[in-house]
Amino acid sequence: MFAEWEKKLVRRGTVVTADATYAADVFIEDGVIRLIGENLPSEGCEVVDAAGKYVFPGGIDPHTHLDMPFGGTVTIDDFDSGTVAAAFGGTTTIIDFCLTSKGQPIREAIGTWHGKANGKAVIDYGFHLMVSEINDGVLEQLVGVIDEEGITSFKIFMAYKGTLQVDDDTLYKTLVMARRHGALVMVHAENGDVIDLLTKQALDEGKTDPIYHALTRPQQLEGEATGRAITMTELADSQLYVVHVTCADAMAKIAEARSRGLRVYGETCPQYLLLDQSALKKPDFEGAKYVWSPPLREKWNQDALWNGLKSGQLQVIGSDQCSFNFKGQKELGRGNFAKIPNGGPIIEDRFSLMYSEGVDKGRITINQFVDMVSTSAAKLFGLFPQKGTIAVGSDADLVIFDPKVKRTISAGTHHMRVDYSAFEGMEVTGEPVSVLVRGEFVVRDKTFVGKAGSGKYVRRRRFQATR
Ligand code: URP
Ligand code: ZN
Ligand code: ZN
Repeated sequence: MFAEWEKKLVRRGTVVTADATYAADVFIEDGVIRLIGENLPSEGCEVVDAAGKYVFPGGIDPHTHLDMPFGGTVTIDDFDSGTVAAAFGGTTTIIDFCLTSKGQPIREAIGTWHGKANGKAVIDYGFHLMVSEINDGVLEQLVGVIDEEGITSFKIFMAYKGTLQVDDDTLYKTLVMARRHGALVMVHAENGDVIDLLTKQALDEGKTDPIYHALTRPQQLEGEATGRAITMTELADSQLYVVHVTCADAMAKIAEARSRGLRVYGETCPQYLLLDQSALKKPDFEGAKYVWSPPLREKWNQDALWNGLKSGQLQVIGSDQCSFNFKGQKELGRGNFAKIPNGGPIIEDRFSLMYSEGVDKGRITINQFVDMVSTSAAKLFGLFPQKGTIAVGSDADLVIFDPKVKRTISAGTHHMRVDYSAFEGMEVTGEPVSVLVRGEFVVRDKTFVGKAGSGKYVRRRRFQATR
């Protein structure tokens, strides 16, 4: 019945954007924010009481892998469970990675990804496009995709030799194309060749446990690849977004590039800020739950990442949602760490973890929090100001957030399909209570009220430089 209301008034909340915090009512009509002010009239409106709560712009998670084939299996959370979980976690838009393969027409790959999301997603979504090869035919298709599909970011894997990895030639050509046509190049920055060698050596020596996943991917190889990608970006006078930065080595490369004014941006994820390499040593193969690439690092790196966020050297928090059940999926790597599917479930907890561990613990301000979980991604990926802020004319993507409640994260209560949580038993402060996408409740008073397929595909604008 509530979906029939065309006008809503979110009343008496504290509105928080990347720039300001203030008490205000938010008037919504036809899914768009029309007015923000004090004591707005409520006539003809459904009134939503936000007293004692924060009203945040909906979270934007620019790094998800839903329903993605990877490591010999497919991620267990798809656009159904993944977007429902995202909504419960305060995320109203995701940008998922559309995989491609050599020789495959680009439109076919994009069509496959639309097929995965269409009719399922309950929040809005866009796609980044993976580049697996560059030739004249592919270049022409990529340029077409920018205008016709609104896909303005391209992903290059510098690791995963033999599957997703491409060579430097492809990275460089992609950077040149992106510069010319206004796109942003994203890199998974690890030296895949050396990792492949170290992996084979470790397995030959009988080192098969999950911890060797981390030990065969040392941080120097992330720093090296980050630096290499930056060098090529500078040469091409292009723009680069480094996904899932994990360590001081890579941070230093990004900070140095930015100090010289290069258009280089960085993302990190809650797991790298809050978990460390020791988790991979958990007994009974439990360490497999903590296998990400790049891997969790020694704890001391966390300070470098928090400092990078605080000082603006890193701009975005992504989840890198890439979930595999422990039973039957992570277990594929028993006896051979290289066969453990890489990735973990974070889409639901990204926003709350950053509020609790960032804002509540005094590491970042509440406005920096909004910037990292929403606004910066909107700006970098061509969605701002339609999304990523609370302003007149913006989509009414809102999170009504209770900052006081304490709760415990658990696979027993989360909404992802995956059978474990990497943060099992952790107490966090704060929780999204209600979540609206374009003015419609998807979560209302902690209950799902959304509709499969109500999420819309978002076309994104070309890249515009920002700090
Ligand atoms: O381990 C990870 N990060 N899995 C997802 C794929 C990727 O590299 O982002
Ligand atoms: Zn990656
Ligand atoms: Zn990823």
